[in-house]
Amino acid sequence: MKKKVDKLLREAVKTIEEASSSRELDEIRVRYLGKKGAITDLLKSLGTLPAGERPAAGQTVNLARRNVEEALVKKKGEISAAEGDRRLQEQRTDISLPGVSFEQGSRHPVNLVMEEILGIFRGMGFSVRTGPEIESDYYNFEALNIPRNHPARDMQDTFYIDDDTVLRTHTSPVQIRTMETEKPPLRIISPGKVYRVDYDVTHSPMFHQVEGFLVDERVTFGDLKGVLIEFVHQFFGQGTPVRFRPSFFPFTEPSAEVDIGCVICGGNGCRVCSDTGWLEILGSGMIHPEVFRYVGYDRERFSGFAFGMGVERVTMLRYEIDDIRLFFENDLRFLRQF
Ligand code: PHE
Repeated sequence: MKKKVDKLLREAVKTIEEASSSRELDEIRVRYLGKKGAITDLLKSLGTLPAGERPAAGQTVNLARRNVEEALVKKKGEISAAEGDRRLQEQRTDISLPGVSFEQGSRHPVNLVMEEILGIFRGMGFSVRTGPEIESDYYNFEALNIPRNHPARDMQDTFYIDDDTVLRTHTSPVQIRTMETEKPPLRIISPGKVYRVDYDVTHSPMFHQVEGFLVDERVTFGDLKGVLIEFVHQFFGQGTPVRFRPSFFPFTEPSAEVDIGCVICGGNGCRVCSDTGWLEILGSGMIHPEVFRYVGYDRERFSGFAFGMGVERVTMLRYEIDDIRLFFENDLRFLRQF
């Protein structure tokens, strides 16, 4: 019996030593220690021995079983360490490999300037509202005190969709939409695309405006001047000369256009300012009482001012760009400069 067990043990330990995968090791365990394994068989056969031999034989077989178990555990540790190493090796990331580089994009100059303008007005307590680009005749004209057949409609060459629907020619309809749904005090700034039938070096059929307006009790032309001068100084620089020139808009009274000292020639006169030394940058005025009537505001109690600015225009002045069409040609050599 002892000899038989020793032989079995040596053979088992040897096969375990030679195993090279955990699956193989599993098979070996079953072969010796499984339900029908060789060592299990031996344990079962103990019962057939004469009672006197049983304890010694039992000890021998149990010892052999423990030895096999230990050998299995040891080998299993070695194999899983090796398998782990191999897995790590296979999954290794080569960190010395050069990465895939992304091309650096850049913001569109009109967007950059738009954000800057909104930032300045947000700083003065204005909040943003927007409106639709496809607009009804009522909001684009009528409620802004521009009745049908009014000559003022000729000021803006309109894209009509049908008799009552236009591509908005300015951002002023957002004044009406906001005042219809909100009550004073209001301090609103409204960026967006507008459309006019126009195309040359300073005009594009689609361009951007920023509309601003403020409504409260006792708002005066002085407030309009204060806010717009502050804007010019923040946007174009503290020393920039500003002047208010009388003008006309049907939805403001009185109205004024705002000029700044020419940023190109410093006011001496050049091609850009047509030798006047001044550049027009926006239209403005005190909101017309008729407009308040349209939105149902008490025109005795409330007053306010409004202004509208062309974003491409101030972007051209900021970056000294001489053709508005450059903004929309998507030439990367142009766009990458911003
Ligand atoms: N909506 C006018 C335009 O597009 C600008 C403007 C806005 C003028 C608000 C006065 C007040 O020309």
